[in-house]
Amino acid sequence: MTQQTTSWASGRASAVPDSIFTRMNQALAQARAAGLDIIDLSIGSSDQPPPPQALDALRAATHDPATYRYPLHRDTAPLREAAARYLSRRFGVQLDPEHEILPLIGAQEGLAHLLLAVTDPGDTLLLPDPCYPPYYGAAAVAGLTVEPLPLREQHGYLPQLEDVPAGLNARALLLNYPNNPTSAVADLSFFEQVATWCRQRGTLLIHDHPYAELTYGDYRAPSALQAGTEGVVELHSLSKTHHMGGFRVGFAAGDRSALSALARVKGAIDFHAYLGIQAAAATALDLPERLGREAARRFEERRDALVPALRDHGWTVQLPQASMYVWGRPPGLTDSLDYAVRAAAQTGVAVAPGRAFGMGGEGYLRFALVQPPELLLRAADQLARLPAGSPLPNL
Ligand SMILES: Cc1ncc(COP(=O)(O)O)c(C=O)c1O
Repeated sequence: MTQQTTSWASGRASAVPDSIFTRMNQALAQARAAGLDIIDLSIGSSDQPPPPQALDALRAATHDPATYRYPLHRDTAPLREAAARYLSRRFGVQLDPEHEILPLIGAQEGLAHLLLAVTDPGDTLLLPDPCYPPYYGAAAVAGLTVEPLPLREQHGYLPQLEDVPAGLNARALLLNYPNNPTSAVADLSFFEQVATWCRQRGTLLIHDHPYAELTYGDYRAPSALQAGTEGVVELHSLSKTHHMGGFRVGFAAGDRSALSALARVKGAIDFHAYLGIQAAAATALDLPERLGREAARRFEERRDALVPALRDHGWTVQLPQASMYVWGRPPGLTDSLDYAVRAAAQTGVAVAPGRAFGMGGEGYLRFALVQPPELLLRAADQLARLPAGSPLPNL
């Protein structure tokens, strides 16, 4: 057999950055080999079950032969209409389900295709730093020039629009509140200000909103669509709000021209999610808000366990009002990747290094609240015993 040497990777594929999580996985494999118990808090995949009503809807659909064919646009009406009802009930925004809502195979798919639909190679995308890492890959696939917008602790991790270089002609600005990784939240006046700023410059405001319902106490996250739909697209996901990450379903809502462009691109690429998954999502979106609040409370209890424990161990950490993450700094941290790799390899506790989210995340670590409170407390204790600055394991 001859060794294959030709690389078939396009410039586009090669431009997608490597994931720091590969390094983390190696460190975890080392911990497993050493017989350590693993507490994985590095990935924000909900451990809660989807609503039983959604599972029932999916089960019923699998017995209905009418769901077995390719789903056409008209077949997506029940999900689009359920999404419109949800947006109206929850945020008081009235959208036309025919032209202003489009089902997605997850917000991540939606974002990558939206960028392809509304930009041309070489266009500029304003991207927060730190941010959800796949944003960098999606921008690279679309051939965009990324202009970083620093999110700083002293500004509540909100971008300062006056930082944007004067005269910069950005095609789109991407935001995400409640925020991954910082857990920061933004109020409606912020979205109104940003939407006006974007409209004045001909910049599309894209708001990625997967944590819309993962909020604590009396806090409720607003929607960017409350600032108007013109020039605004919001990406919703059932992954976190309804614990349906594996189902790959969400929806885009907002500016009809942008959504029409997205529908054209998606028409060349996919045929929508299976109708049973769409039925499950529509059922979930129509459920009373009270059920979502109960699931969110579980994450709130975890936050209330972890944050004081970390503070007792000298961490600097704020009490998040939303999201499924805790973002903080341990005493004496110099290099987040070094810390996270050592922690995973030597204690079995995996947390995400801030640097994985962009250089603006350096100096911080992110905990995903995806384990019960007792394991979070154990993780905090084990991290406190991590020897300071011991050499990196040989990986
Ligand atoms: C900010 C953000 N956007 C999108 C996603 C992925 O959403 P989906 O599962 O709908 O693709 C995540 C998942 O962690 C996220 O944190």
